[in-house]
Amino acid sequence: MSDQVIIRFEGVTKQYDQDIPVLNDVSFEIERGKFYTLLGPSGCGKTTILRLIAGFTEATQGEIYFNGNVINNVPANKRQVNTVFQDYALFPHLNVFENVAFGLRIKKTKKEEVAKKVHEALAFVNLEGYENREIREMSGGQRQRVAIARAIINEPEVILLDEPLSALDLKLRTEMQYELRELQQRLGITFIFVTHDQEEALAMSDEIFVINRGKIQQSGTPTDIYDEPINRFVADFIGESNIVKGKMLADHLVEFVGKQFDCVDQGLNPDEPVEVVIRPEDLEITTRERGKLQVRVDSQLFRGVHYEISSYDKDGNEWLVHSTKKATVGDEIGLYFDSEAIHVMRFGETEEEFDKRLEAYGDGVGNEE
Ligand SMILES: Nc1ncnc2c1ncn2[C@@H]1O[C@H](COP(=O)(O)OP(=O)(O)OP(=O)(O)O)[C@@H](O)[C@H]1O
Ligand SMILES: [Mg+2]
Repeated sequence: MSDQVIIRFEGVTKQYDQDIPVLNDVSFEIERGKFYTLLGPSGCGKTTILRLIAGFTEATQGEIYFNGNVINNVPANKRQVNTVFQDYALFPHLNVFENVAFGLRIKKTKKEEVAKKVHEALAFVNLEGYENREIREMSGGQRQRVAIARAIINEPEVILLDEPLSALDLKLRTEMQYELRELQQRLGITFIFVTHDQEEALAMSDEIFVINRGKIQQSGTPTDIYDEPINRFVADFIGESNIVKGKMLADHLVEFVGKQFDCVDQGLNPDEPVEVVIRPEDLEITTRERGKLQVRVDSQLFRGVHYEISSYDKDGNEWLVHSTKKATVGDEIGLYFDSEAIHVMRFGETEEEFDKRLEAYGDGVGNEE
């Protein structure tokens, strides 16, 4: 294990009673000083992973390592981890100063030291001068910053954030995304952030774990995951996608909607059924003759920067297009795309299998040449 790894899950399963496991044989590594996001739909197991790291619940199977040591039996208060909860869990009867000071008071830190550290922590989150404010007099965004100040005051090695932005309105939420990211970089502390909002995950993270039904579907940088989704779930969950069924005819040749297309994918079996993804921004509106696909425009919405056009091919597949050009509802048009825009996915392929396939081909899927 490299020195950079601060947390490692090794085959971790979490099961309540006789139910199906809510986490199923999950393994991953978290490196020091990076911003990680756990992304997935409601109930997929995100909070459970945070609770296991924090020590609020126990793994049914598998090992959890912190700085190279198994911590399965280390109590929560002995772990170098602090949590910012969704509702911030601030104490309403204490003012801002006392909320932030709480962890130090428990440790019986000296009075002058408490004052100094609280001041520093509040300065860090731009809340100097708010010491004597009551929590109920603070806005949502300010409360969140109090919660973060409280979390950083003990100088934990890892901060866990469970959907801390979900209660905020869109504008404040975007502002706080920048602030949190900037704060993380300034502190150099490892952040593990939970969200079910894919745009938030793409904007903020060094690494994203996409989770579904208690399994990590894919992990990687935002661009990795956006450009190379390994299965339908990831392609669908991250960004908008057109996904149709197809057949791989040979390396670099795929068939869908009854036509053959050059592509960059390889390493699949001849005639293997596949799913094909093309992102809406990779489709270009053109004439029927010039188009690689022929579709009929069904509806159109102006989204500020682009038009979002929904169209259908003769087989009834929907093709979503993001275009700066306007279309006319009811028109028969063509859609053009580069062969690199086609991304082929193997049915039910796991991240491990995908990586092996890449390795076997050296340069790998997705690279031209
Ligand atoms: N104490 C518990 N007893 C039994 N089942 C539980 C318990 N806590 C969580 N679960 C179940 O475990 C699964 C995963 O829950 P978890 O809270 O980790 O999901 P999540 O990804 O955080 O979802 P959300 O986005 O809704 O917060 C859910 O099906 C949930 O019902
Ligand atoms: Mg949750």
